[in-house]
Amino acid sequence: MNISISPDAGALARVAAEQFVELAQAAVLARGRFTVALAGGCTPRRMYETLAGPGLRHRVDWSRVDLFWGDERAVPREHPDSNCRMAAEALLDRVPIPRQRIHRIRAEMADRPAAARDYQTEIARAFEVKEAGQPPSFDLLLLGMGTDGHTASLFAGGESLREGRRWAVSVEAPQRPPPSRITLTVPILNRAREIRVLVAGADKSVTLRAVLQGPHEPARMPVQLVKPENGRMIWLVDEAAASALETAVAAEAAR
Ligand code: 6PG
Repeated sequence: MNISISPDAGALARVAAEQFVELAQAAVLARGRFTVALAGGCTPRRMYETLAGPGLRHRVDWSRVDLFWGDERAVPREHPDSNCRMAAEALLDRVPIPRQRIHRIRAEMADRPAAARDYQTEIARAFEVKEAGQPPSFDLLLLGMGTDGHTASLFAGGESLREGRRWAVSVEAPQRPPPSRITLTVPILNRAREIRVLVAGADKSVTLRAVLQGPHEPARMPVQLVKPENGRMIWLVDEAAASALETAVAAEAAR
């Protein structure tokens, strides 16, 4: 298990932003572009702001970055709960990324299963692959984790956890307002080359220990379903979130 512990949320944001820059440079060199699925929720906002800051933004060739989302809430793009809006305010509106390289989930569509199919088609188009084939690989997948062990919009007990073919599905999550969402599914998440799970705050410490050091119970803690097929996964956490981890792991990560 790969885990990196930062002293606080600010330092965590910096570490994550610097890894974004390094991976962006490597991907552009290797494949001519950098494809990223962004995380929603609150935790990544500071990373996005740090990335858009004067210290880092010039180190990324934004003209070669394609942005996607791991999930979106079924609200209009301008709504305060929109993951796209959060990313736009913190990052997209502050860096020179071409509009056609921003592949947002149109989760506000009334027909949400159609919005999920629409997103799969958009991903296939952007990666120039067939929808009937294997899902493509994001160069970087950013995820968060809820205090209940969910990630993206994959929640405990949801049918979406068992989805083995579609890349995106619509879900209802009454336990996490706003309840209606579109999420990427496990098959495409686990195709990513690099996965970073950002976890900050003491309120997630017990869950983080259960996820990393407890029994394997993905039906209860869906983030445990994230296991890259060939890629690398690193947990980027702060000391508060790591505070319940058994010392061995904490000592190892702090080294
Ligand atoms: C969402 C997210 C979700 C998020 C976790 C953690 O749209 O809600 O994609 O999976 O990453 O809920 O959220 P916080 O960072 O706000 O704690």
